[in-house]
Amino acid sequence: MPRLPLDATGWPSREAHEAIRATGLRKVFGSQRAVDGVDLFVPTGTVYGLLGPNGAGKTTIVRMLSTLLRPDGGSARIFGYDVVRQAQEVRRWISLTGQYAALDESLTAEENLIIFAKLLGLRHSQAKRKAMSMLEEFGLTEAAKRPVRRLSGGMRRRLDLAASLLGQPRLIFLDEPTTGLDPRTRAQVWNTIRRLVSEGTTSC
Ligand SMILES: Nc1ncnc2c1ncn2[C@@H]1O[C@H](COP(=O)(O)OP(=O)(O)OP(=O)(O)O)[C@@H](O)[C@H]1O
Ligand SMILES: [Mg+2]
Repeated sequence: MPRLPLDATGWPSREAHEAIRATGLRKVFGSQRAVDGVDLFVPTGTVYGLLGPNGAGKTTIVRMLSTLLRPDGGSARIFGYDVVRQAQEVRRWISLTGQYAALDESLTAEENLIIFAKLLGLRHSQAKRKAMSMLEEFGLTEAAKRPVRRLSGGMRRRLDLAASLLGQPRLIFLDEPTTGLDPRTRAQVWNTIRRLVSEGTTSC
């Protein structure tokens, strides 16, 4: 369970108003300066969009903020916790939906969600219930028993999002969450994101 002190609403009380604060963030790959001194401030309860052409460094920034990649310079804090020195604390509060789906192709939609729920510590019956409710929320009930490899691109995207939201994260990183989706599915994903934000989640 989380060690950090919580306020009355169950949120991290320490610097809870600052979801992200990054200063002078840098990442170098060989001679390539992928991220060269980025400052970022994202208050809680907001949606922040990171825009830029292919290769601009968006994914690299998200990977540094979500503790997957160590910055070469600068610093970043998530809810006041340093992404390098307090990576474990940071990971308790975030989820990441990457640019490419993190699903097991051979398992069904339902089985994928049950695995994520169990990894979060739920018992089998609870995990199954949680999986079913997420499938319903994301309009995937009819696809529950189909292997992921037989789902359409939009359905996979929604399933990937459902998996990353199972643990009710306080901060969600979404790397190109609607790329390749049709207008209706795109609107559905944004509705879900807006609902989460209205409940206090922060999105980047
Ligand atoms: N692991 C890596 N090793 C070497 N170079 C990398 C690595 N990851 C990213 N890069 C380089 O860093 C730069 C930024 O890449 P990044 O993936 O962050 O861009 P992006 O803004 O997410 O692009 P896209 O819109 O195509 O997703 C690119 O020039 C890329 O080639
Ligand atoms: Mg990218």
